[in-house]
Amino acid sequence: MNILLIGSGGRENALMLALSKSQSAKKLYAYPGNPGILKYSLKANISSLEANEIVQFCKKEKIDLVIIGPEQPLAEGLTDILQGVGISVFGPSKYCSQLESSKDFAKNLMIKCGIPTASFKTFSHTEFEEVHKYIDTHTLPIVLKADGLAAGKGVVIAEDHNTAHNTIDEMFAGLFGSASKRVVIEEFMGGEEASIFAVCDGNDYLILPPSQDHKRVGTGDTGKNTGGMGAFAPAKIVNSIVLEKVENKIVKPLLNEFKKLDFPYRGLLYIGLMIKDNEPKVVEFNVRFGDPETQAVLPLIEGDIAKLFFTAANGKIEKDCVKINYDKSAVCTILASNGYPDDYEKGFEITFPNELKENEIIYHAGTSNKDGKIISNGGRVLAVTTIDDNLQTAINHNYQLIKSISFENLYYRTDIGQKGLKFEK
Ligand code: AMP
Ligand code: GLY
Repeated sequence: MNILLIGSGGRENALMLALSKSQSAKKLYAYPGNPGILKYSLKANISSLEANEIVQFCKKEKIDLVIIGPEQPLAEGLTDILQGVGISVFGPSKYCSQLESSKDFAKNLMIKCGIPTASFKTFSHTEFEEVHKYIDTHTLPIVLKADGLAAGKGVVIAEDHNTAHNTIDEMFAGLFGSASKRVVIEEFMGGEEASIFAVCDGNDYLILPPSQDHKRVGTGDTGKNTGGMGAFAPAKIVNSIVLEKVENKIVKPLLNEFKKLDFPYRGLLYIGLMIKDNEPKVVEFNVRFGDPETQAVLPLIEGDIAKLFFTAANGKIEKDCVKINYDKSAVCTILASNGYPDDYEKGFEITFPNELKENEIIYHAGTSNKDGKIISNGGRVLAVTTIDDNLQTAINHNYQLIKSISFENLYYRTDIGQKGLKFEK
């Protein structure tokens, strides 16, 4: 089949590499793509994410499946438009995508389905007095979340009431643009975070290896929140007890609810969990693959992932077309531009190792091609993944491999994967 992948990050590089190894994939196209993605695919002749243009391209190139990487086009309903003209899409409808594009929608749905999560209350910017009264009586710390999409940056955890009062004023005044005109205030949950990906066909699902992200910019979980500075999989904090609860208390009720509403959830469901004493609670849902978790999860999967996505998109998931390798561990470290997630310089030439072993992958996240040279072109520049027999070996191997990569202003965390070691046998 012919496939179009939308997106331009490390996540899409990992998806495209996996698609390129799929037997059923014939012609692979990417838009906008990046130099890493375009090693395995053709650049689609599209000039914007405008739905009509994508439809025309799909018709002309006989695209059988569109895979949508990032959340924005999903939230805007690209899936619905493409499906409306008979094109299969791996990525949920606009209705289902509200799980990510509105925290209030997600929280209300969780309450309706009895899915474990932090207690909450939503306020709009017109409810000035009410919100400040509510904050005064709230236990500390207080979690304040912009309702809408904010590129993973819309959450503030206030340690004292004063900070919460000031933050809510800033949020309502547009700290995260229109995304924070409504704010969800929720109870703080203690525990350790993990990410679960479920490939869903509306009815049935396949859980991929659990992973853990490292969201803070600094080693030792210090500094600002980022899109994610590294990940590893499988994350053994998600043991069989936790996984059973995730399936029975979260995935199944959610899929059933969407089915009942006549909006079957087809695509990737990302469950951000907080786990304490083997009890998982939902921190957030995303309606697409996580970045950089995908760069650690996909290398553990063999087989025809294109077919897995196509069958899920069409409501008849064929789980047997892939095999998950639970005997290996994968670690992914993000090589970033110093200064990220704030201002940073870009445009520096990247030096790569001459050769890579079979169990080493350097995904491109924010790079571009300038006169035949690869240069840094984003906050997160590369995603370096190593796959080994256990987590410790994969970590050592990862930092060894990083030594062979250089560019000016290169920055990375030196503790990716460490938090997983305590769960290894
Ligand atoms: P979110 O965008 O909802 O995933 O939130 C971003 C980050 O804030 C999460 O990855 C958590 O580290 C943290 N966080 C969000 N909600 C809570 C909560 N209720 N309790 C504790 N930490 C939270
Ligand atoms: N790594 C977190 C996310 O993709 O939202």
